[in-house]
Amino acid sequence: MVNNLPDLLSLLSLFILLNSHAVFGVETKLVLTCGTGDKGKDADGREWEPDTKYFISSTSTPSTASFQDPSLPSEVPYMTARIFTAEATYRLPTTAGKRYWVRLHFYPATYGTLDSHDAYLDVIANGVQLLKNFSASETGRALTQAYIVKEYSLAPDASDVINMTFTSSKEHKGSYAFINGIELIPIPDLFTSAQVVGFKDQPVDVKTASLQTMYRLNVGGQFIAPTNDSVLRTWYDDTPYLYGAIAGVATVKNTSEKIDYNGMLEDIAPLDVYSTARSMGYDGNLNKNYNLTWQLQVDANFTYIVRLHFCDYLADRINQRAFNIYINNQTAQEGADVIGWATRSSVPVYKDYAIYVSDRAGDEVVTLALHPRVDAALPPEFYDAILNGLEIFKMADPQGSLAGPNPQPSEMLLKAEAKAAVEANKQANGFSSSSRNIHVIEGAAGGAAAVGAMAAICISVYIRKRREHGVDAHTTSWLPISAGFSHTTGSKSHASVISHLSSEAQGLSRRFSLPEIKQATKNFDESNVIGVGGFGKVYKGVIDKTIKVAIKRSNPQSEQGVNEFQTEVEMLSKLRHKHLVSLIGYCEEDNEMCLVYDYMARGTMREHIYKGNNPQLSWKQRLEICIGAARGLHYLHTGARYTIIHRDVKTTNILIDENWVAKVSDFGLSKTGPNMDKGHVSTVVKGSFGYLDPEYFRRQQLTEKSDVYSFGVVLFEALCARPALNPNLPKEQVSLADWAQHCHRKGTLEHIIDPHIKGKINPECLKKFTDTAQKCLLDSGIDRPSMGDVLWNLEFALQLQESADGSTHSTRERTSDFDEISLENNNKIRLHISNLSLGSEHELSQELEDGTPADIFSQIANPKGR
Ligand SMILES: *[C@@H]1O[C@H](CO)[C@@H](O)[C@H](O)[C@H]1NC(C)=O
Ligand SMILES: *[C@@H]1O[C@H](CO)[C@@H](O)[C@H](O)[C@H]1NC(C)=O
Ligand SMILES: *[C@@H]1O[C@H](CO)[C@@H](O)[C@H](O)[C@H]1NC(C)=O
Ligand SMILES: *[C@@H]1O[C@H](CO)[C@@H](O)[C@H](O)[C@H]1NC(C)=O
Ligand SMILES: *[C@@H]1O[C@H](CO)[C@@H](O)[C@H](O)[C@H]1NC(C)=O
Ligand SMILES: *[C@@H]1O[C@H](CO)[C@@H](O)[C@H](O)[C@H]1NC(C)=O
Ligand SMILES: *[C@@H]1O[C@H](CO)[C@@H](O)[C@H](O)[C@H]1NC(C)=O
Ligand SMILES: *[C@@H]1O[C@H](CO)[C@@H](O)[C@H](O)[C@H]1NC(C)=O
Repeated sequence: MVNNLPDLLSLLSLFILLNSHAVFGVETKLVLTCGTGDKGKDADGREWEPDTKYFISSTSTPSTASFQDPSLPSEVPYMTARIFTAEATYRLPTTAGKRYWVRLHFYPATYGTLDSHDAYLDVIANGVQLLKNFSASETGRALTQAYIVKEYSLAPDASDVINMTFTSSKEHKGSYAFINGIELIPIPDLFTSAQVVGFKDQPVDVKTASLQTMYRLNVGGQFIAPTNDSVLRTWYDDTPYLYGAIAGVATVKNTSEKIDYNGMLEDIAPLDVYSTARSMGYDGNLNKNYNLTWQLQVDANFTYIVRLHFCDYLADRINQRAFNIYINNQTAQEGADVIGWATRSSVPVYKDYAIYVSDRAGDEVVTLALHPRVDAALPPEFYDAILNGLEIFKMADPQGSLAGPNPQPSEMLLKAEAKAAVEANKQANGFSSSSRNIHVIEGAAGGAAAVGAMAAICISVYIRKRREHGVDAHTTSWLPISAGFSHTTGSKSHASVISHLSSEAQGLSRRFSLPEIKQATKNFDESNVIGVGGFGKVYKGVIDKTIKVAIKRSNPQSEQGVNEFQTEVEMLSKLRHKHLVSLIGYCEEDNEMCLVYDYMARGTMREHIYKGNNPQLSWKQRLEICIGAARGLHYLHTGARYTIIHRDVKTTNILIDENWVAKVSDFGLSKTGPNMDKGHVSTVVKGSFGYLDPEYFRRQQLTEKSDVYSFGVVLFEALCARPALNPNLPKEQVSLADWAQHCHRKGTLEHIIDPHIKGKINPECLKKFTDTAQKCLLDSGIDRPSMGDVLWNLEFALQLQESADGSTHSTRERTSDFDEISLENNNKIRLHISNLSLGSEHELSQELEDGTPADIFSQIANPKGR
């Protein structure tokens, strides 16, 4: 008896241990790194424990990847894998009735003698088929990702274990299965039911469904790392998925306002999601004519749960902002009114909709569109819509499967690869066999060093493709960093991939060795110099045998160089935007500092307006370039978590790629504003004469309005085709900024327009453009518009020009009355601006003619008591 006591005790403690979940409500999370006996930490500092305890089959081989791809966020869990050639099972303890995120991490690489292309696997967890015939290397190749993370949430059941079985696919002889990491994260009941789109009062039960996460986007906001989310989710920027020419406006909550969950489960989404949003913009007239649209690729033959997160921190009354929600061209919600749902400002709400995506050609997408409600008897005060977050989950089909096909590399990617292979052959002639090079290119997507390079190819190819089709709309990016669960575009189908990067590592900065750089630039040959800047010389070069790049080499003598180098790597590695020049990588070795960028085939904006032997650009082309640059700057000011002030906006820092996409470059002087509220940073005045904000010069306080000023000068350069400073002209004309303002006051601006385009500009467009440019040059920063406003006005000007070009007499109504309003950097005020545009007399008389009762009209104009 006595001998048995210790056993009893240990039994007892085991009992307590086993029951502690239920008793204390603590659910264990499992974060397992596979194929190793050692625990380790990942880039976010999270602990991963070895998987050995949970692996219950006898046959498996722990293995280590032969190569560490530079884009892996950390060695753990990717560098070790457990390899299976026969069926093998993990037994993962859970709490009965509880939901978990189940995440599978795959790094397709060569393990021992096993080729990544031979891995095809099936995964079944508690009867749910998570993966079938899954090839991590095919998926990685199609998505240009080095590693793949899949997230699922199994329906809660009565068992206290998840049996997860890995099988190598029977379809392929000699295939094997592998896994690098498994996560099991307990979550509260995040799912209840969803409204089926197109069927009134037909909810589908999500509480008991097994799900796969397809997308998770922080709309209008930034990447959110799992460490900043209570249930360790990763949220991505939504811009790659925006569809349509107009991307709306990203807004940020005023930090002095507090988000109040008001009883809603705080785990639904973190504060950061609700603190940023995308709305349609400040011009109600414009908003009436477009849909704010996102398009996301999904697998056919599944039902998807589309979860929309809302939090309106600008509006505070019902029917101030009401809009319709369309999913795949069907009305999901009429008259969505966030304040109506939430009862007051800054209170989050979310809505779930279910949509079945069938297998008809071209249908394998979820398209979400928002449009202001214009047809209601009682129109909203503002014609606008808002969205803060978007999640898309796939529901298991009736057979209990969540598995989709492997994504096909898109035609673009295949073409790019083929082209790269051909060029590699050409270049390699003489010192390397051709077949080897093709192999190198193929291997790249599977996780070789060239992921960054591959992304670069894809971007340029992708942009070209878009041009060919004449749609300047689809902004889906190929960059692994900006895109979240998936990066395919035009690819047939689609798997979900999470790039698990810490926010620091988000940038895809590849580190180059000095020999690589020297080889690229033929040892910094002078004949390769394409420019000289404050930082040093800029060389053109070729990396990885095929990819054209621009390499900025720091002048080793300059101390300023070191800081600017760091600033630029810091800034650019975190920023990705179609209208910002992308940094491919950098080199820091032997006192040499180099930055490697995408090559901008068409050089600077200035060369195309007046300096250089280029043919004259049409007015519309100039306008498009200005809009592109404005987008880039707008993104710098508002798209990132912190306001970034460029400080050196000028026509030589706006570069143009071969597809005429304008990109802002040269971030060496950029400053990060501490936050939106503080509004300015004191600094030593830097920048370029002719573009320098006089207020900044006087007060040495930098705000983003200094960029707006400089951009005003850029706009006048585009219109007048002359330099910002021309000392050869009479004194009053030397400075373009002063001269243009003078002419604007005198009403003689027409005389200074570039003769090449004079007379070809639609007068309304010209007025909009010059009014905007002139406002940018206003003496005090607070009177100047924000970059967002500038962008909107330029877009509007372009529309005016296009409709004038399209038909002889424009059907467009008078433009909105932006002009009388001082545009401040205050979202609250901005919201009211759109109210004014709606309430302008012209607009109202229109509404009256349309038969709107006069009392409603007075309610719009005077919305008290609502
Ligand atoms: C998991 O596997 C064990 C043993 O193989 C079995 O007893 C148990 O019923 C399984 N549980 C589930 C939920 O499939
Ligand atoms: C988490 O959020 C805090 C506050 O917003 C921020 O300071 C921190 O950098 C974030 N951390 C990560 C890893 O994103
Ligand atoms: C979708 O279902 C239809 C009908 O069952 C089938 O013919 C088709 O192959 C399925 N498509 C995919 C991609 O599984
Ligand atoms: C939605 O409508 C647009 C235009 O009418 C069409 O091009 C698109 O294919 C439709 N999408 C779906 C999913 O029906
Ligand atoms: C917005 O989307 C809906 C649904 O697809 C469509 O019916 C409507 O015509 C679209 N409106 C505009 C202005 O594109
Ligand atoms: C398995 O995946 C590969 C690669 O995507 C594909 O070629 C093959 O047809 C798939 N097999 C089946 C049976 O789906
Ligand atoms: C934020 O709100 C406070 C108080 O309402 C106001 O004083 C401040 O100007 C606002 N800041 C911004 C940037 O709008
Ligand atoms: C909207 O416009 C009307 C008329 O211009 C004005 O009286 C009202 O105060 C405005 N509403 C808000 C919220 O500013």
